[in-house]
Amino acid sequence: MLSTAAVVFILVSVTFALPSDFKLPKLKEAGTQWALLVAGSNGWGNYRHQADVCHAYNIVRGHGVPEEQIIVMMYDDIAYNKENPNPGEIINQPGGENVYKGVKIDYRGKDVNPTTFLNVLQGKEENVKGIGSGKVLKSKSTDNVFVNFVDHGAPGLIAFPDEFLHAVDLNIVLDRMHDNKQYHQLLFYLETCESGSMFSSLLRKDYNILAVTAANSTQSSFACYFDTKLRTFLGDLFSVNWMQNSDNRNLNSETIDEQFSIVRKETNKSHVMEFGDLAMNQLMLSNFLGSEQNNHIVLDAPNPNLDAVPSEDVDITIQRNIYQAAKEQNDKKEMEESWANIAAIMKKREETDSIIKQIVSLVAGDWNFREQYQMLTGENDLFKLDCYAPIVEHLKDSCGDLDLPSNRYSLKHLRIVVNLCERPYSTDAIISAIDKVCV
Ligand SMILES: *[C@@H]1O[C@H](CO)[C@@H](O)[C@H](O)[C@H]1NC(C)=O
Ligand SMILES: *[C@@H]1O[C@H](CO)[C@@H](O)[C@H](O)[C@H]1NC(C)=O
Repeated sequence: MLSTAAVVFILVSVTFALPSDFKLPKLKEAGTQWALLVAGSNGWGNYRHQADVCHAYNIVRGHGVPEEQIIVMMYDDIAYNKENPNPGEIINQPGGENVYKGVKIDYRGKDVNPTTFLNVLQGKEENVKGIGSGKVLKSKSTDNVFVNFVDHGAPGLIAFPDEFLHAVDLNIVLDRMHDNKQYHQLLFYLETCESGSMFSSLLRKDYNILAVTAANSTQSSFACYFDTKLRTFLGDLFSVNWMQNSDNRNLNSETIDEQFSIVRKETNKSHVMEFGDLAMNQLMLSNFLGSEQNNHIVLDAPNPNLDAVPSEDVDITIQRNIYQAAKEQNDKKEMEESWANIAAIMKKREETDSIIKQIVSLVAGDWNFREQYQMLTGENDLFKLDCYAPIVEHLKDSCGDLDLPSNRYSLKHLRIVVNLCERPYSTDAIISAIDKVCV
């Protein structure tokens, strides 16, 4: 705070000290905006992540951020998915308009991965040559950058279709971007489970970066807007809330803080959090989302809280809703199918629980029930990153039954790895227990 005040003071005094014929550049010309929008998942059950990102594209584009300065990474398997009754269309609210229309995707399919994401952030054009559109952030020290990532997460990591991005690796890159003067200010909106853990005690407070997350370090984020016809969820609670707010307000007169307060209140199933340079809260949203008038007609939207479910319950809720609808129609075949799907999901969950319990029992000792209980139920914050990251990678590579990185029910269990790492067990002991269980 003090340092910001000092900077403002210095700027003011420098201004007065300038010769009178020196013209300061107008604010609008002082820098341009860049946006990097990423959906880290694939599959029809994750429809909502790509829908959110398409909507975000419409917001920044609609507010005048040029196409060349928006980079989109999304798998792109939704619009023309065989499950899509409206080919070529993606919607982000019930009865909503097609948000897929006009979206320019730069990296799709396998190119949606952490390596490419970090290269794009750092403007490393040579590293993405021949990959996707090859577009990277070319932001300068006077430019503002908006990053929006939507997908699954777990303590200290966010997921891409086949790989994890660990919190440390992201924060190292943000530090480097700062050192290389690749932005003036950077706003990061993150919607994943346990999203707070990507920045908590990692993001610097003096690097002109503000991160807003859908949840704190130990909570799920929530899906919303189940669509009976599409048989999937259309949005995520935090994302839908900030984007509907952006659609309805004048971004030239609404500060980040105003949006944060409104969205935090509306997203009342998880704690929306802020990290980094909180002084940036006083900036107008137009500094990041674009300052032109969006002449777009906004449809009324139903309350997204009403059917919101935690991310790990999305698959089972979809099947339950299908079952319920089939029952009302007396569609026996569909009832049987969805019932079988529910049974399969339940069985898979039991297998996951069992794998994790066996690992904990091997590490803590068969007889040590109290210790096992603490491992299984504890809610420690993640500090032992050197222990956690390699173990999570090992689980992903050697425990195929857990379906990492994409299965949210398994991702939720990574909390137990946090607990194991907080206790005095060596990484080797934990890895050898994993090897015994996951053969
Ligand atoms: C996160 O939210 C949960 C649920 O409200 C709470 O129990 C937990 O203490 C919170 N953790 C942090 C780090 O704020
Ligand atoms: C959350 O907000 C919705 C309105 O968006 C309201 O209907 C609901 O009661 C709130 N829940 C809690 C726990 O405050």
